[in-house]
Amino acid sequence: MSNNNSLPKRERWGSRLGLILAVAGNAVGLGNFLRFPVQAAENGGGSFMIPYFIFFLLLGIPLMWIEWGIGRFGGKYNHGSTPGMFNLLWKNPTAKYLGALGLVISMTILIYYTYIESWTLAFSFFSINQTYFGLDSHNSMREFLYSFQGKQTGDFFSSLWPAYIFMLITFILNFWILYRGISKGIERLAYIAMPLLFIFGIILAVRVIFLGTPNPAIPENSVANGFSFIWNFNFDHINQPRIWLAAAGQIFFTLSLGMGAIHVYASYLKPKDDIVASGLSTAMVNEAAEVGLGGSIAIPAAAAFFGVTLTTQIASAGAFDLGFVSMPLIFEKIPLGFVFGTLWFLLLFLAGITSSVAMGQPFIAFLEDEFGYSRKKATIILAGIVLVSIQFVIFFLDKGFLDEMDYWAGTFGLVVFALIETILFMWVFGSKKAWDEMNEGGDFRIPKIFFFIMKYVTPVILLCIMLWWLVQDAIPILLLSNVESDKVPYIWGARALMIVITILILFMIKRAWIKKAQVNR
Ligand code: PHE
Repeated sequence: MSNNNSLPKRERWGSRLGLILAVAGNAVGLGNFLRFPVQAAENGGGSFMIPYFIFFLLLGIPLMWIEWGIGRFGGKYNHGSTPGMFNLLWKNPTAKYLGALGLVISMTILIYYTYIESWTLAFSFFSINQTYFGLDSHNSMREFLYSFQGKQTGDFFSSLWPAYIFMLITFILNFWILYRGISKGIERLAYIAMPLLFIFGIILAVRVIFLGTPNPAIPENSVANGFSFIWNFNFDHINQPRIWLAAAGQIFFTLSLGMGAIHVYASYLKPKDDIVASGLSTAMVNEAAEVGLGGSIAIPAAAAFFGVTLTTQIASAGAFDLGFVSMPLIFEKIPLGFVFGTLWFLLLFLAGITSSVAMGQPFIAFLEDEFGYSRKKATIILAGIVLVSIQFVIFFLDKGFLDEMDYWAGTFGLVVFALIETILFMWVFGSKKAWDEMNEGGDFRIPKIFFFIMKYVTPVILLCIMLWWLVQDAIPILLLSNVESDKVPYIWGARALMIVITILILFMIKRAWIKKAQVNR
């Protein structure tokens, strides 16, 4: 055996390119192609882009380095999940329990994200088969989607079986890749999926540009107006806090920050592998995919066919309407539309699966590293939890179950977690040590200004966002102020599920550390 210390040998990435593709795959997801256009359209287009870029610089990039830094540091001591990592940063028994958030959040997102991902696979088939061709209005296409999701019994699907089967296929694929491990599973997937994703994205974006003005009788409905809606930066709505909150939320979600998903990938690095250039380049690749491709497909296409005003209304009507209702309507209208439709939904599927495996890996690493479980055992346990929990998401979709999970885990939780980790790393562990840790082995040094940003600016912004969110959003949501009464029990059900997951993980952390203490005695 090559290593003579007591630590078992950790899995490693096969190559640097593989690592970068895998982390880019982690970050580039449904967030880039579905969530971003909806957020941008809903929040004033060019007005949204200003806070978006500001937060990319002041939250996105610094947190990316912080998370790579904490992750690689944890990996040195054979910890791939945040309980073990936080325990290294702060010598206090509470630290590991704070790290529970990095497991709860990633697991919760995984549960509902897998289901959404499966819709994209289903719609790839519906595009090849031209199943939805012939539906010519937003209403009928929306009925098609809702009937597929079981939200509404329509003429299209008489049961949830099709959705259920696509969920199972997606679920099995995800866990098969996770079971194969870091370099043979996740990294190989990234080698195949990422280039394809970019090729599909470029083909679609170019096709969209050539849509021009599809109906010459309505010249204002054009691709050009769609682009200028996003790219004409303006200050029209800049004084509305909700735009700032939405921009911050998008930066977190799209870069996979604040959920333990970056840390776990970084933990499979060697202690002297560069993270400065790698962290920056994955953030850049994600932005290229998001504003470059994500911003050049759904919004401009919808603007060309339906006009900017209607596009913003569609985006506000439902998180999935732009991608699953408007886009199919457009594919019906263009030559070879079924081919482009298939490419669009496959693009979404590839983006989704390279992200969902990243949400599964933290808990698997936790079981492997802290309990010494085999990868097989760890994968099976996670698969069991996800399979049970996803049933609620599927069957209570129309009751707001998914949205509730998305709010607490996919929006609010990320900011809380990011604030905790920034304080632990930059203040408790110590800014000097943290800075050296991040720069260790770097291809270049992080510009000095980021020291100041990471230490002061990032945590202060996070604190403000969190407080603002709490007052504006979280308290009314917590008290169910705007919820129809028939949904209330289900919303509580979603909360109960998240609480059960949290308690389970806290309990497991406790067990793991008791066991370790016994072994070390
Ligand atoms: N960043 C991914 C996206 O944009 C989402 C994600 C969340 C990925 C959590 C990994 C972990 O869709």
